[in-house]
Amino acid sequence: MADANEASGVNAPLAIAVDDLSLSFDGSTQVLLDVSLHIRQGEFVSLVGPSGCGKTTLLNLAAGLVPHTGKGNIHVAGAVPVQGNSQVGYMLARDSLMPWKTALDNAMFGMQVRGVPRAQAQERARAMLHEVGLAGFENTLPKALSHGMRQRVALARTFAMGSSLLLMDEPFGALDAQTKLQLEDLLLRLCQQHQQSVLFVTHDLSEAVAVSDRVVVMTSRPGRIVADIDIDLPRPRSIRALQKDPHFHELYSQLWSHLESGWSKHEG
Ligand SMILES: Nc1ncnc2c1ncn2[C@@H]1O[C@H](COP(=O)(O)OP(=O)(O)OP(=O)(O)O)[C@@H](O)[C@H]1O
Ligand SMILES: [Mg+2]
Repeated sequence: MADANEASGVNAPLAIAVDDLSLSFDGSTQVLLDVSLHIRQGEFVSLVGPSGCGKTTLLNLAAGLVPHTGKGNIHVAGAVPVQGNSQVGYMLARDSLMPWKTALDNAMFGMQVRGVPRAQAQERARAMLHEVGLAGFENTLPKALSHGMRQRVALARTFAMGSSLLLMDEPFGALDAQTKLQLEDLLLRLCQQHQQSVLFVTHDLSEAVAVSDRVVVMTSRPGRIVADIDIDLPRPRSIRALQKDPHFHELYSQLWSHLESGWSKHEG
């Protein structure tokens, strides 16, 4: 595998380079073992795997929230990850909106924390709320928004920050099936528009296939990468069209087989 400073084709460092990384929180239980994962600039990679295999831990390492003290290396845009890096945006399953702030103020918040002047942040947040389908809801408080609408605000806030790398931990995991499909479509459009690099965690295999350029399969105890699958479906994509695409279903089934073989090894 290439090193952390390998050119991505546009002479830029890799968005994320993880090389032979192992991690233990308590010094005895291995959480991640010999994990290597390279994500190019602009690439969308999903991580799937059983609960507890270390997906969130890997995101936290990339965000600098968990210090890496074990074997191997992790680099984000060519540098050791540090907490608060403005080039990294993090979005979670729960919207984490501030209940006392309007949709507009919530969408502005990330930019303001990073020092963007108020007028500029407001203009950008308005445009992003429009982009996520929430024009007219700028002054609404989270309690008056549906869960799906709140996740749209969280998407607006995340994309408004303009970070080159987005870490997304099951952002649609708590939504009902229909709302989830709508937000996956929205995410496809946002990524097409903004071209950020994304490391996305999901338990939903069809979601992983639909949104990704590659899907990485992990297995647990300890967390290891057991497959790295190219999703060679053309873009732009639409969730509705993908449902009718036989290749989408082939990739889904391939992914299932890799996950299943990980389970049976544990049972054996
Ligand atoms: N701060 C921590 N201190 C100690 N152990 C931790 C810490 N964070 C995670 N772990 C352990 O590391 C392992 C991986 O946890 P992690 O949250 O990364 O899994 P996950 O793949 O995200 O699971 P899920 O799909 O349920 O979200 C688990 O065994 C967990 O108990
Ligand atoms: Mg997790």
